[in-house]
Amino acid sequence: MTRTLVIGTGYVGLVSGACMADFGNKVICLDIDKNKIDALNDGEIPFYEPGLKNLVARNRDAGRLSFTTDLDLAIKDSQVIVIAVGTPEREDGSANLDYIFQAAGEIGERIHGYHVIVQKSTVPVGTNAKIRKIISEKAGPDVEFDMVSNPEFLREGSAIGDFLRPDRVVLGLDSDKSKRIMQEVYRPLFLNETPMMFTDIASAEMLKYAANAFLATKISFINEVAELCELVGADVQFVARGMGLDGRIGPKFLHAGVGFGGSCFPKDTKALVHTGEDMNLPMGVVKSAIEANERQPGRAVTKLKQLAGDDLTGLRVAILGLSFKPNTDDVREAPAIKIIKQLRAEGASEIAYDPVAMPNAQLELPDLNLATGIYECITAADALMIVTEWNEFRVLDLNRVEKLLARNVVVDCRNIFNDKLMREAGLKYVSFGRVETE
Ligand SMILES: NC(=O)c1ccc[n+]([C@@H]2O[C@H](COP(=O)([O-])OP(=O)(O)OC[C@H]3O[C@@H](n4cnc5c(N)ncnc54)[C@H](O)[C@@H]3O)[C@@H](O)[C@H]2O)c1
Repeated sequence: MTRTLVIGTGYVGLVSGACMADFGNKVICLDIDKNKIDALNDGEIPFYEPGLKNLVARNRDAGRLSFTTDLDLAIKDSQVIVIAVGTPEREDGSANLDYIFQAAGEIGERIHGYHVIVQKSTVPVGTNAKIRKIISEKAGPDVEFDMVSNPEFLREGSAIGDFLRPDRVVLGLDSDKSKRIMQEVYRPLFLNETPMMFTDIASAEMLKYAANAFLATKISFINEVAELCELVGADVQFVARGMGLDGRIGPKFLHAGVGFGGSCFPKDTKALVHTGEDMNLPMGVVKSAIEANERQPGRAVTKLKQLAGDDLTGLRVAILGLSFKPNTDDVREAPAIKIIKQLRAEGASEIAYDPVAMPNAQLELPDLNLATGIYECITAADALMIVTEWNEFRVLDLNRVEKLLARNVVVDCRNIFNDKLMREAGLKYVSFGRVETE
């Protein structure tokens, strides 16, 4: 059991803190956002993540998890300090490390005895060394501490399972003492023989970017193949399945559609390209993956035009799904937001519905026109675009859709239906990379 402080109580900080408490550690989660901490102390969860509410409640009740904004007290009480603050994208594509360095300075001003500083945010190679320098300068030469790079691989929507049963845990470190302490933090995972990878710090930092860029590239690759399939009369579903059955390729991240979004892939791919450029290495593969992805929302609008006509003026479009993927309320870089902006620019209007992401989407687009349910959304529209593959959209009553939708046009941005079913229901249908079935 360790006494652990997690700085930054966002998606990663809160899930990591609650799961580390579940491993038996005593965890304090800290944030500079007082509203967030007050809400957590009132038993509310500031974002949507399946299972998180119960996990937090269970560990709070057991006295292993608490929330605070008081850094002085929290640092006094801890032996391990995890940094999990945001690293958003700057204008030039590089990672904004201001929050990281601010947290490092605050730690340096306060630590006295030995601490392990665990860097969990996604940061470019060399950042841990900079954090070490900031802390040393502030804390003075007598204060002993170790740095650990422990990148996080959880996915929003299945974050708890990913943290409690990860494919691997990566620990970039350079001392036996910090290694022993990290083994204690992740004790249940050591006991159940989860692969633990000990590396140098720079490799751990790089590994996270390489993994995300690879997954993003896989998505862009299949999307480009889907585009070609449309031109040559092949079906990307068969192509992807056949590719995925090859053990060297694997089936995951080979689903053609409107592309990736979210708080990680878009910014992490750009940050990797930026690091390459700093080193005079063009990173052409990742750059192409980004460019291919940026075309996808526009392709969805082009598909709408195929069915509804080139002039979108006055067209009312029902948008089902606002979050960047199902089971999260995160709308950062969500394709739906980009599609809505483009529709508006072309004179169309939107009415949107999402089971959980509507409040966050409204922060991005304050005048967003929202519906109270799936069929209310469709009732008010000429055409339908399914943008996020929430399970409840997979079971749409197509006959009802046909009765409600004024112009019977459906664009399936996630390939969750097929044209035969749609045609039988009297709907005009288009998806990504597929041929019409008989
Ligand atoms: N979201 C994901 O799915 C995911 C997955 C793996 C890795 N990551 C990485 O983890 C990091 C965090 O991402 P996130 O999505 O949890 O971000 P987030 O924006 O949800 O949360 C960041 C939190 O840090 C707080 N914060 C900022 N500066 C602070 C400071 N000085 N002291 C205390 N709190 C501070 C903010 O108020 C916010 O609550 C990023 O580097 C991200 O790339 C994210």
